[in-house]
Amino acid sequence: MQEKVVAILEEIKQSSAENAAQLEQYRLRFISKKSVITELFGELKHVANDKKREVGQQLNELKNEAQQKFKKLIAQLDDQQTANESIGIDVSLPDGGQELGGVHPLNYIRFKIIEIFERIGFNVSDGPEIEDDWHNFSALNFPENHPAREMQDTFFIERDPDILLRTHTSNVQVRLTENQKPPIRSIMPGRAFRNEAISARAHCVFHQVEGLYIDKNVSFVNLKQTLYHFAKEMFGKHTEVRFRPSYFPFTEPSAEIDISCQICHGDGCQLSKFTGWVEIAGSGMVDPNVLENCGIDPDEYTGFAFGMGIERISQLKFRVNDLRLYTENDVRFLKQFRTLH
Ligand code: PHE
Repeated sequence: MQEKVVAILEEIKQSSAENAAQLEQYRLRFISKKSVITELFGELKHVANDKKREVGQQLNELKNEAQQKFKKLIAQLDDQQTANESIGIDVSLPDGGQELGGVHPLNYIRFKIIEIFERIGFNVSDGPEIEDDWHNFSALNFPENHPAREMQDTFFIERDPDILLRTHTSNVQVRLTENQKPPIRSIMPGRAFRNEAISARAHCVFHQVEGLYIDKNVSFVNLKQTLYHFAKEMFGKHTEVRFRPSYFPFTEPSAEIDISCQICHGDGCQLSKFTGWVEIAGSGMVDPNVLENCGIDPDEYTGFAFGMGIERISQLKFRVNDLRLYTENDVRFLKQFRTLH
């Protein structure tokens, strides 16, 4: 009997409870009505009479010991729970506010351009950034070894046959014309790549929106009117537009489009190189060779195309004069556009 008491006492001392289940196990073994201690009390009647008193006392002490340890285990578990809660979430605390993101200025301009052209019946098309020579150059009437190719500072991925990063979004013009029958009236926003050293005024990755309209009887008047409309929608109705003769292999005749400078309004500034005009796009009537290259009969159909730089338009609207800001993800810059939508 005494040996059992000693063994149980030792067992109680070693006991611990790290969670409610272990505490319950302890309770069942040492405290409950069916505990080992109750069992021992039951055995008391077999103890010799002269020892009964002494053994009874020992059992009472054991019972006390078991109960005290039980209280201790409960207190320990309680402490631990409070500690856990304090590192958890206190739902009664204020949340500190939620920061909402904003639209990137280049996306804002892109959405705006799309919106303007969609309203006059253009849809939106997409094309690959990794392109072959045919779609970026040859189909667009760039003869082999023509200096215009050199001017594009191409990033080549493979040579012979050439695979490259498109140097303009005009590749989508070709893909669209190859795959669709006129009338085609589409704008094509996307990234373009040229091997230029990164500086405030040049970047090797930039964004363009290409436009294409092919149908019967499309004329230069349509081109002019479309771009007048665009410039006034984008920059306001007092904006002046000027078409300057230019050259692109894939358009004939070609023109560059200038608008009255939004920064100096004609007074002269760095951006307009003191002329009061800034260039926003290249354009022209699609060269008959290009139509033929894409399987469209140039005697039946004509078309115009234009291509504009999103960075330049954003620069005029928001006066961002360092192109690097667009890709550096400096929140001090981005936060200034938070109210755009
Ligand atoms: N692809 C020309 C460029 O990147 C722009 C352009 C597009 C010019 C369509 C005329 C017609 O400079």
